[in-house]
Amino acid sequence: MFFLMNKNSAIGIFDSGIGGLTVGHQITKLMPYEQIVYFGDTKHLPYGDKSPNSIVSFSKDISSFLLKQKCKMIVVACNTASAIAFNDVKKICNGKAIAVNVIDPVVDYTCKSKTQAVGIIGTKNTIQSKVYATKINSNQPKIITKSLATPLLVPMIEEGFYKNKISNTILSNYLEREELKGIDHLILGCTHYPLIEDEIKQYYDGNVKIINSAKIVSKYIRKKLTEANLLNDQIINQKQEFHVSDYTESFEQSAQHFFGKRINLKETRLI
Ligand code: DGL
Repeated sequence: MFFLMNKNSAIGIFDSGIGGLTVGHQITKLMPYEQIVYFGDTKHLPYGDKSPNSIVSFSKDISSFLLKQKCKMIVVACNTASAIAFNDVKKICNGKAIAVNVIDPVVDYTCKSKTQAVGIIGTKNTIQSKVYATKINSNQPKIITKSLATPLLVPMIEEGFYKNKISNTILSNYLEREELKGIDHLILGCTHYPLIEDEIKQYYDGNVKIINSAKIVSKYIRKKLTEANLLNDQIINQKQEFHVSDYTESFEQSAQHFFGKRINLKETRLI
């Protein structure tokens, strides 16, 4: 299969579930003429505690699907898959689409910021991979990195528990831990977390700057598409597609919160 990348083609985005819709939402806000094809691997959610082999295999299957949809770019809108499977996605994309992960743009942003001590929260897999700390320190060895796996946050958000007493308690319990003491910036190292950004900001009361990857990554994508002369600059066909590997009504309802407006999820089985 080979085709020339085209301005009018869609941006393919995938995540283990619906968390990547926070990135999809920012992309459509910033680049309103872009079409997106979203794939949420709800059948295999969560990726946060799966084996690296499984994450690589899921990511390769989804990337092949998105390439078949002739996407000009594939955005790995999941920190866990970005940490573990991005090289494999890049290989599959070779020459057919631009591959983007959600970690490198954030590392770049962090290294250019004024931070002296940055906190990173994410899934067990993302934190255990040490990908943020390693990349930040290879660029800026003086920045102190402090990491904490916060595995309860994904199921909490998926279940719609945010902006309430339970989410506040769980969040404070994580954020007050010793591991995050003394930070001046905090990276939301999971694409689910922008949904609780307000609560996190409230907890820190302006004392810690929150780094929201959805916003940073969409700006990076606009830059990449512009440089490659692939930014869609006219309304051709505003078709947005949302696929999940396992459909449930509750996913469709939560998806609206993640994407900020009503969407139809379609079940697509890859194998
Ligand atoms: N959205 C995924 C991420 O950014 C986390 C969800 C999961 O554990 O699958 O890492």
